[in-house]
Amino acid sequence: MTPARTPLIAGNWKMNTTPAEARRLASDVIHAVGDPAGVDVAVCPPFVSLHAVAEALRGSAIALGAQNLYPAPSGAYTGEISPTMLQNLCRYVIIGHSERRAYFMESDEFINDKVRAALEHGLTPILCVGESLEQREAGRATDILRAQTTAGIAHIDDVAPIVIAYEPVWAIGTGVAATPDDAREGISVIRETIADARGHGAAESVRILYGGSMNPQNVESLLAQPGVDGGLIGGASLNAEQFASLVRAAAQQG
Ligand code: PGA
Repeated sequence: MTPARTPLIAGNWKMNTTPAEARRLASDVIHAVGDPAGVDVAVCPPFVSLHAVAEALRGSAIALGAQNLYPAPSGAYTGEISPTMLQNLCRYVIIGHSERRAYFMESDEFINDKVRAALEHGLTPILCVGESLEQREAGRATDILRAQTTAGIAHIDDVAPIVIAYEPVWAIGTGVAATPDDAREGISVIRETIADARGHGAAESVRILYGGSMNPQNVESLLAQPGVDGGLIGGASLNAEQFASLVRAAAQQG
């Protein structure tokens, strides 16, 4: 029997909040979420707020994540942040978000380096994959998901600790989430790809989230789909009440 996967609701605050605002938002999230029984919850603030948010979260059930890392332990990489700097501060790190793929030209190979660096330092990578609207309309969504997933987990024997987020680019920040069917379909392509590469047991152990305009109105139908193990939330994670209602929805599905 495969062990049940604990749902994860992770907030991606992106380039929002000053350290003071981040600390306040973290306190608000703690109060709004309360005891998230049966659900893993994380918030991922900007780098400069990690320390303040870590302090605010101390003693709470909410974990901390970063939004990126550079895949080297230290060195001459001006402006970058290494996994060694994050490893005692964070549990999670978002890797390969579509904004980084698009605006910072991150390749699948570079993203794989980052996933491996995260794992080597005891961080849980949240590897983002997803097709653009253009790719979807050209009938290439499945190929893109397969390629990004295969590349993302390359050279990694034990994929179980990896979290993958299926984030169709056309659904991010647009207010137009994927339909529950589309979310289920995308996630099943990702899980099949892992099964082909690493076997069924490995595929069943990986948590796969949906991300892209998830909100209190659509969360229940998205999480009700088989194989959807939680959400990576952008906009709605900046509002403590909305974020907490997503956590409650995940707890009710459990
Ligand atoms: P969104 O962002 O919820 O604002 O669409 C999700 C994400 O980019 O991770």
